[in-house]
Amino acid sequence: MTTSEIKIAPSILAADFANFGAEIEAVEAQGADWIHVDVMDGHFVPNITFGPETCKAIRPHIKTVMDVHLMIAPVDAYIEAFAQAGADIITAHVEAGPHIHRTLQAIRGAGAKAGVALNPGTELDCVDYLLDMVDLVCIMTVNPGFGGQKFIHSQVEKVRKLRAMIGDRPIHIEIDGGVTPETAPLVVEAGADVLVAGSAVFKGGSVSNPAPYGDNIRAIRQAAGPR
Ligand code: DX5
Ligand code: ZN
Repeated sequence: MTTSEIKIAPSILAADFANFGAEIEAVEAQGADWIHVDVMDGHFVPNITFGPETCKAIRPHIKTVMDVHLMIAPVDAYIEAFAQAGADIITAHVEAGPHIHRTLQAIRGAGAKAGVALNPGTELDCVDYLLDMVDLVCIMTVNPGFGGQKFIHSQVEKVRKLRAMIGDRPIHIEIDGGVTPETAPLVVEAGADVLVAGSAVFKGGSVSNPAPYGDNIRAIRQAAGPR
């Protein structure tokens, strides 16, 4: 395997909220593999971002993959709207309600790829009976709600166990929170292949000065090394 198999997914949570379209185009031109879209409701997490209408508005600016991370509860009633907005992948949290199995069925039923996310305090066992119905498992390496938090090192072991549980199923392991050139190699070595990064990608750059986005993406990719 080569480093090109590691996917870097910049989170627009760290972009200029008044300029999402141009920010997405800039970060893709600088080497982003996917665009990570953090939806927060002020209920499941203590912060509010945006909903399906914003996702629909930014969709035409995304040439790669629109990776929508739903930090909302309840979630089921909104899946169709995010799928209609053009999400390629929709990820829901196991902690967001009692019916994650139904939620994942609904995501695939709406025509999107299905992801399941686990908070740092959540046991891995809860995905045992979900692995045959997901395309992605997201291991949160911060408590969801805000960008720029510190990476929680105990989650590296969780990634390693998850990789073993997945076996040869075609499931991505995505890491979300505190990814930097320092922390990326730890999770890639443990088996992750999609790295979400907000602050570490957008720091130092802007739409009018996008080169730092490329430098930041390359720094993470190089540090991550081959899978
Ligand atoms: C946290 C979000 C993350 C966040 C990552 O709730 O799900 O995607 O934007 O930001 P950084 O990379 O700054 O930790
Ligand atoms: Zn996220």
